[in-house]
Amino acid sequence: MKRSLIDILDFSPDELQELIDTANDIIARPEAYSRLCCGKKLATLFFEPSTRTRLSFEAAMYELGGNVIGFSEAQSSSASKGESVADTAKVISCYADIIAMRHPKEGAPLVAAMNASIPVINAGDGGHNHPTQTLADLLTIYREKGGFENLTVGFCGDLKFGRTVHSLISALSRYPGLKLYLISPEELKLPSYVKKEVLAAKNISYVQTTDLEGVMPELDILYMTRVQRERFFNEEDYLRLKDSYILTPDKLQNARQDLCIMHPLPRVNEISVAIDDDPRACYFKQVLYGKYMRMALILKLLKEAGTL
Ligand code: NCD
Repeated sequence: MKRSLIDILDFSPDELQELIDTANDIIARPEAYSRLCCGKKLATLFFEPSTRTRLSFEAAMYELGGNVIGFSEAQSSSASKGESVADTAKVISCYADIIAMRHPKEGAPLVAAMNASIPVINAGDGGHNHPTQTLADLLTIYREKGGFENLTVGFCGDLKFGRTVHSLISALSRYPGLKLYLISPEELKLPSYVKKEVLAAKNISYVQTTDLEGVMPELDILYMTRVQRERFFNEEDYLRLKDSYILTPDKLQNARQDLCIMHPLPRVNEISVAIDDDPRACYFKQVLYGKYMRMALILKLLKEAGTL
């Protein structure tokens, strides 16, 4: 049966563990995977700018021995002629075996999945979800912390528009003992639908605060995020809020020695480069792990579709 990944909750915790196990095996034995997708094609349909996510998907498919077709901006697709996402999905189903789609409109990859005859992966839809970044985040947490239970996680920055935050909170909400610190300016707080549908529904303990340093000693994980300029309605608000939180070495004085500092990247000013050499900085590992998790995901979806 064809399956897609639109929301991280489309996969059970057991399935996420299966992806983590596959990714760890790819890291250990990359050559065993290097020809598994020979003759298969991934279509990367990116209606919104992206470097790392698109290149991560492309690198993932190449490392599986497969090929990649696609476009990296809406202007170079038929969307500029007025084609619907539904039609694009039907057309690409005739050319490729699997689709990775990024779109500025929330829900667009879901529409694509409903109309495609091949698996669709949501590579980020507006300010909504970004489940494959969550796969990268989960492998990072698993390798750094050994699992997902009893974690205290601080999310800092743009919690309103940060889709990576929404998807990771959903994923972590299924493991016991989670405690969240939601650190943001007043205007960029976590949307109430996430609080209601995820935090309240799962009875997750959380504190909202504007004070990063005050909560630092509590944290196992600090997830920093960029203020999402492209989702602001006016530039003045962005300029006022963009440097709300800048992590510098002095702010880590009271942090735990085993803190794991994460960021989905791209970084603007949120983390000083002086932190990059701190052993607690995990954001470049996240990038690498994202590629392995995308390899595991492509394999799983192609197998379930009967293509492999
Ligand atoms: C994130 C995104 O696109 O939402 N980037 C990424 O995919 N790694 C985060 C961001 O753009 O700030």
